[in-house]
Amino acid sequence: MTAKKTNDMMDKIVSLCKRRGFVYPSSEIYGGLGSCWDYGPLGAELKRNIDSFWWDAMTNRRDDIEGLDASILMHPQVWHTSGHVEEFSDPLVDCKTCKGRFRADKLEESRCLLKPSKTPLECGGELTPPRRFNLMFKTFMGPVEDESSITYIRPETAQGIYVNFLNVKNSSRQKIPFGIAQIGKAFRNEITPGNFIFRTREFEQMEMQYFIHPDEDEKWFEYWREQRWQWYKALGINMDKLRWHEHEKDELAHYAKKAYDIEYEYPFGWQELEGVHNRTDFDLTRHMEATGKDLRYFDERFPEKFIPYIIETSAGCDRTLLTVLVDGYDEIEVKGEKRVFLRLSPRIAPIKAAVFPLVKKDGMPEFARNVHQQLKKRFKVFYDESGAVGRRYARMDEAGCPYCITVDGQTLQDETMTVRERDSMEQTRMKTEEIIDFLADKVRG
Ligand code: GAP
Repeated sequence: MTAKKTNDMMDKIVSLCKRRGFVYPSSEIYGGLGSCWDYGPLGAELKRNIDSFWWDAMTNRRDDIEGLDASILMHPQVWHTSGHVEEFSDPLVDCKTCKGRFRADKLEESRCLLKPSKTPLECGGELTPPRRFNLMFKTFMGPVEDESSITYIRPETAQGIYVNFLNVKNSSRQKIPFGIAQIGKAFRNEITPGNFIFRTREFEQMEMQYFIHPDEDEKWFEYWREQRWQWYKALGINMDKLRWHEHEKDELAHYAKKAYDIEYEYPFGWQELEGVHNRTDFDLTRHMEATGKDLRYFDERFPEKFIPYIIETSAGCDRTLLTVLVDGYDEIEVKGEKRVFLRLSPRIAPIKAAVFPLVKKDGMPEFARNVHQQLKKRFKVFYDESGAVGRRYARMDEAGCPYCITVDGQTLQDETMTVRERDSMEQTRMKTEEIIDFLADKVRG
């Protein structure tokens, strides 16, 4: 895709997000804050639905995975032990001409501040030699701001799981293989955030750590790759736009023996959406050495104690949200007019159905409001009686609402309503109880 087309597509997504209340720039009335975004009414619902869809697949539907919600601030020693203080850095270069700061390993993807059509390699500006820049945000804990009160704002949720391995194992009585799942905020002082909510400094991760016997790492690694691939399929993503990328030796994170990314083809190119990592016994060994706590595992099935290996699945919630927006965005001409459709799966759509009276008379609004009341007990539904019905359909189509229910003249005789499906535009007549069952089936999947 050309740079212009990329920008057009991203501009359309950003504009839809603002217009319909999915995502706003953070602190906008103050001019915004670079790389920070706020989720509006539809965005907050969509994000919750993505979280729930993940949580449901990774915990509720399984017997072998427990949930956790660890604190963002952790003992500062955790980040020394995990290797993040020493290793979690990107190479940074400064341009002496435009004063831009860029990741030395991503110069082809960066833009010169003075000549945005050129990369920092092409614009002729003089670059400094690369230096390491640690991505962790530092803060002070307590009233005194000195070296001894420095702590870090977590750059990944995973460490909260490792330090709770013993707690969860003991309280849940899970036996290996088992996992711990967590959804939570992470923070990275990225050198070049960008592409809307793709790379930000504050983001949410959906991470699961699966504890296994070291001899079985290959088997579980492949198992989790397959599970995560199927999750995106169930989410309704166009699978032609997904691919695997195996990390070369020089790309591997400091903790990983093997890593595969699930990549999506965004308007700005193929980029990582989720990582599946074989972290070996790296983390538990380091925490065991640092704390002196025995994190080895034993049960009667094994001849001796061992430090479990960990297979990690690590997805970004914001990135998944961007992916479903990009993937679902569609423009078509309806009766000579260009219309936007956001083809979100009913499982994650912020509004599951909208209820309309065809006209504002003959008892239709009363009937429709009553249906709305009944559906509201089960689903996020929206009532709308303002404007022509075609306009109401159009508003719901670009909000990603999969079903529109219209009360018309026939409803008053036989209590059936039209249920119009956003993507096929097919209309089927159903009564309220049938609509409830129909929506439950589509939303739950
Ligand atoms: N615990 C392993 C870990 O954090 P990662 O590959 O650095 O691995 C995992 O991050 C996922 O978190 C990424 O695939 C991406 O979806 C999301 N992510 C990472 N950095 C991000 C950022 N700056 N903005 C938005 N999402 C990010």
